[in-house]
Amino acid sequence: MACMYPATSSSPEILYPYIEKELIKLLGSETNWISNAANAASTLGFLMPMLNWAGFYLYDGSELILGPFWGKPAVTRIQIGKGVCGDSAKLRKTIVVEDVHQYPGHIACDLFSNSEIVIPLVKNNQLIGVLDIDSPEIGRFQEDDRIALEKIATIMLDHIDFPTIV
Ligand code: SME
Repeated sequence: MACMYPATSSSPEILYPYIEKELIKLLGSETNWISNAANAASTLGFLMPMLNWAGFYLYDGSELILGPFWGKPAVTRIQIGKGVCGDSAKLRKTIVVEDVHQYPGHIACDLFSNSEIVIPLVKNNQLIGVLDIDSPEIGRFQEDDRIALEKIATIMLDHIDFPTIV
């Protein structure tokens, strides 16, 4: 397996296409979903600047269960409709939180988190889970990040054989 190097620039036009290319290369060489999801979370954590957590919560048919991630240990179960992750899963909509301390019901896992983006993972109209990314910087995630990360979530859904229900 080839080494992964940081992108040559952290500007979104350079960074996100680079992450996409690295992910497609990495995920194409393995079929096991746990290994691929673990490497996908690690890729985001390693390549994206100013993050403290990146990972998956997967739907078990009733609630969200912690999946592979990069960062500190986190809450293991989140009810649908609770916290940013549960809201995103319920609405099936990306939620960008500029300041987590202002978000009603935000679930704090890492005290260093100040902003967050959660992208729902939906395939064939079925909820698979969410991709959750946290930053210590307030307002870290902007519109260009949302668009790029939604595309990256689609790449993950195309290349990772997530179980429909964990
Ligand atoms: N902040 C999330 C919980 C998960 S941790 O950020 C990893 C939420 O409010 O749903």
